[in-house]
Amino acid sequence: MAAIRDMVAETYLSPAHLIYPMFLVEGNNIKEEVKSLPNNFRWSTDRLLPEIESCIKLGINKFDLFPAVREELKDKMASYSFAEENFYLDAIRKVKEAFPEVVIMSDVAMDPYSSDGHDGIVEGDKILNDETLPVLAKMSLAQAQAGVDIIGPSDMMDGRVGFIRDHLDNAGYTDVSIMSYTAKYASAFYNPFRDALDSAPKSGDKKTYQMDPANKTEALREAELDLSEGADMLMVKPALCYLDIIHLLKENFTLPVTAYNVSGECAMVYAAAQNGWLDYERVVAEMLLSMRRAGADGILTYFAKDFAEFVKK
Ligand code: PBG
Repeated sequence: MAAIRDMVAETYLSPAHLIYPMFLVEGNNIKEEVKSLPNNFRWSTDRLLPEIESCIKLGINKFDLFPAVREELKDKMASYSFAEENFYLDAIRKVKEAFPEVVIMSDVAMDPYSSDGHDGIVEGDKILNDETLPVLAKMSLAQAQAGVDIIGPSDMMDGRVGFIRDHLDNAGYTDVSIMSYTAKYASAFYNPFRDALDSAPKSGDKKTYQMDPANKTEALREAELDLSEGADMLMVKPALCYLDIIHLLKENFTLPVTAYNVSGECAMVYAAAQNGWLDYERVVAEMLLSMRRAGADGILTYFAKDFAEFVKK
């Protein structure tokens, strides 16, 4: 009987576990669907605010915001990321003003602002790790000043968590948390996201700073570093092909572990569902539950709002 199955169910999934990634764009009255990620949009701030309100009503109260930046504003040093007139920082301020109770997470990496489309500074065919750290720290501080609650360094430069933590603490932002992209793999599942932000690398790939999908113990080493540098939460990304890594970090560390159910994982489901090949509602619930079962405390997912709607039905 269902009542007994519910009583003995070992894993529980609710909208409270979910963080909803959303794409922002400069301008007014814009709600533009991302072609390779149906059901997800680039929002101008005026359209984003009512959307956030409708998510809150469904029990979604954590959002990870990403900016789609005009090509003319990009440069080699990602200087727009901390510019005074940055529309993304302005959007964060407006969301926190309208809904002080929601949690806003941000993305820290150079790619959406970089004319090279890389997460760090490019010189020839190299990514300059140490030179990138001050840029990431400045970006993080600007986001904290705008009202961000959780800083999400997705850049994968070595030493960035400690560097950002010091910079935030010195400026008085000791209560802003850091959710480190601990084990972020050089994955083929990020393409729809890069379409959404038009942020694909102009040359080369991200294999010199993102992890090799062949590696597992490396994730433990990365987690040890993040812990020692002051991360508040660990993240594994992508989620589906990396459930073993989620499990590994959960078993070996006491920090909360989150999973990023990335754009390509969601796009596959949308495509199959649109063709009538899979039952969208059931597949979404099963996928998200598998991440919780593997050990994820929280899940970043483009399915957040839809899942909350299914639960409400
Ligand atoms: C930026 C960043 C990426 C994602 C999150 N932050 C793309 C990348 O590393 O190229 C991917 C998220 C997704 O696919 O949903 N550094």
